[in-house]
Amino acid sequence: MEKETCTFSYCKRPEVTEVECDLLIMGGGMAGCGAAYEACRWANEKGLKVVLVDKAATDRSGAVAMGLSAINTYVGENKVEDYVKYVRNDLMGIIREDLVFDLGRHVDNSVELFEEWGLPIWKKGDDGFSLDGFQAAEAGKKSLKDGGTPVRSGKWQIMINGESYKVIVAEAAKKALQSNREKTGMAQNHFERVFIVKAVKDTNGKDVAAAIGFSTRENKIYSFKAKAMICATAGAVNCFRPRSVGEGMGRTWYPVFSSGSGYAFGMQAGAELSLMENRFVPARFKDGYGPVGAWFLFFKAKATDSFGNDYCADKEYFDDAVARYGDYAKGLGTAIRNHLMMRAMKDGRGPILMQTPAAMAALGAAFKEKLGDKEGAKKMKHLEAEAWEDFLDMAIGQASIWAATNIEPDKSTSEIMPTEPYLLGSHAGCAGFWVSGPGDIAGTPEHYSWGYNRMSTVPGLFMAGDVVGASGHKFSSGSHAEGRLAAKAAIAYILDHADYKPAPKMSLDEIAAELYLPFEIYEKHKTYTTEPGVNPNYIGPKALQARLMKIADEYFGGVATWYMTSKTMLEEGLKKLEMLKEDANKMAAKDLHDLLRCFENYHRILSVEAHARHILFREESRYPGYYYRGDYNKIDDANWKCFTNSRYDAENNTWELKKVPYVQMFK
Ligand code: FAD
Ligand code: ADX
Repeated sequence: MEKETCTFSYCKRPEVTEVECDLLIMGGGMAGCGAAYEACRWANEKGLKVVLVDKAATDRSGAVAMGLSAINTYVGENKVEDYVKYVRNDLMGIIREDLVFDLGRHVDNSVELFEEWGLPIWKKGDDGFSLDGFQAAEAGKKSLKDGGTPVRSGKWQIMINGESYKVIVAEAAKKALQSNREKTGMAQNHFERVFIVKAVKDTNGKDVAAAIGFSTRENKIYSFKAKAMICATAGAVNCFRPRSVGEGMGRTWYPVFSSGSGYAFGMQAGAELSLMENRFVPARFKDGYGPVGAWFLFFKAKATDSFGNDYCADKEYFDDAVARYGDYAKGLGTAIRNHLMMRAMKDGRGPILMQTPAAMAALGAAFKEKLGDKEGAKKMKHLEAEAWEDFLDMAIGQASIWAATNIEPDKSTSEIMPTEPYLLGSHAGCAGFWVSGPGDIAGTPEHYSWGYNRMSTVPGLFMAGDVVGASGHKFSSGSHAEGRLAAKAAIAYILDHADYKPAPKMSLDEIAAELYLPFEIYEKHKTYTTEPGVNPNYIGPKALQARLMKIADEYFGGVATWYMTSKTMLEEGLKKLEMLKEDANKMAAKDLHDLLRCFENYHRILSVEAHARHILFREESRYPGYYYRGDYNKIDDANWKCFTNSRYDAENNTWELKKVPYVQMFK
């Protein structure tokens, strides 16, 4: 089918606004807010204009929208080198150690700022037990910056009262943007509910001159021309068919706002990806997707099969894992723990249970022993409230499920389950772009650093947070810190390239025609059938998404096949995906909500295509428990202890994949 063109014969031409700035930050999540805060500090002095665009309302956008109950990366009393080793173990031996070290040496400063901005952080009480953030303040406990001792749930994690975490972080970013607006006289530099669709190359053929997008509330299109850009629009969810379908559709662990825009933007700009075969399959409380970290680490709960056995200690499962995946299995990282859980489930030993009553009873006994019956019981009541608050702070739906199904965590166990796969690079995953490191860390090989920290292989296009590859376990604090690192480097880039004047390859008319094409297609053909959702002349967002999810789930190792795929399955799925990509030329939108969903789905298609092509390229199962190549179900260090990088040529719809050497910088 020929691609249609929008001549605005059927739909109304939108207002098109060109916004000129020096630095454009895309995404107002943790990384975007960190970038805005840091960029303005340097830009204000030089009179440089900083603009931030978010598809949602920055106060409650991104993965931290609901809030969190822990900050998962705070180095504190630990050594940064040990953080690098921890991340390397969890991500099966291949990470960019320069990026991880760089993150580790800067992350605590972001956490200290959060506390200064008003985030309540738990502290150790004089009796050795925890005080929540408010109790700690009342007891006059010192701030982290002044040497206060946080409550550690794990070696790297600290507890917070984090319901309003995102609002606090966004406020600092918004204040910074306001100061930049006042300094530079810009009328507006914070655009909310504007969805970035794609990169527009410069007429010089190498730079990205503009990012284009549309308002999700008004008939307005924007072209943001910038000398440098930071892409912080996070990873991709809802590419694979989720476990929650039907009435539960839309409930996932990863935020539904993250539709692969970050990957799509960089790919369309020609930036190199790394380890895009990686994914994250979190083990979560079933159906509500409640996080498990606090239960495992803070409450010290055990997960078992339904007979009460610890599947991680099962000799048969463990020995088999070591035989296939070598010493990596002994590290018991996130993927391997999933793998052992799946073994038990496949053997019919499910459901897997989080033993919350035993954990709470043990803590209750410890309180009573140390504090006596009365004080111990009081402490226990507070702990029960914390158990609920852990979910109320960051996965409210899970608390609702507990309430609706009469679960009291001190009395009944809860099911946990591996979720559908997500693509991301800041949690226990590392799919994203290949970026330059800082270059100043001893032992950095030449191919890890090309001038500006966190710059992609496209000059002037920087990456931060979930879209950065090969360096997971940044979490909320690390993503904020990485945004700051990228921003500082981007400002240096702008100053070093003061003569560059962005000249986008597309005219404003062409931009409007491309972005509003789905409206034109819908209006032109909608009367052909009596049911607008079914029409031979177009594909609506719902159908597009269902087809994508089916292909990914069944061919690329989703839950349908217990995360199993192979060369033949991937090749067959890719053929189907190619057809879907062609059909995406006929996307139809009846309103702005549909238009958003059309382009979100297009971004998902590109993200998942990169994912599948990378899995196909890497002929081993590097991440058992996340996905398996049935035809190569082992780890093969001799051939694959390397990065796998790819570049998509959007103009010609072609791919290049290659191996890139991994260098161990920390012994
Ligand atoms: P996000 O914070 O998700 O921000 C992405 C931003 O991009 C959003 O504002 C979004 O609106 C915007 N955006 C997306 N597409 C577009 C587009 N096309 N145009 C414009 N804007 C766009 N970390 C912890 O430290 N502790 C925890 O307890 C913890 N729990 C978590 C629980 C869950 C459920 C999840 C999903 C993550 C959790 N994390 C936790 C990890 C942490 O939230 C992430 O590491 C961090 O938010 C990633 O930062 P980011 O800026 O890359 O993405
Ligand atoms: S959250 O970000 O959604 O809260 P999650 O609950 O999985 O994630 O984990 C929080 C932190 O605990 C992360 O740093 C994660 O790696 C760690 N974690 C979770 N489960 C375990 C476990 N069983 N053993 C060790 N660390 C764990």
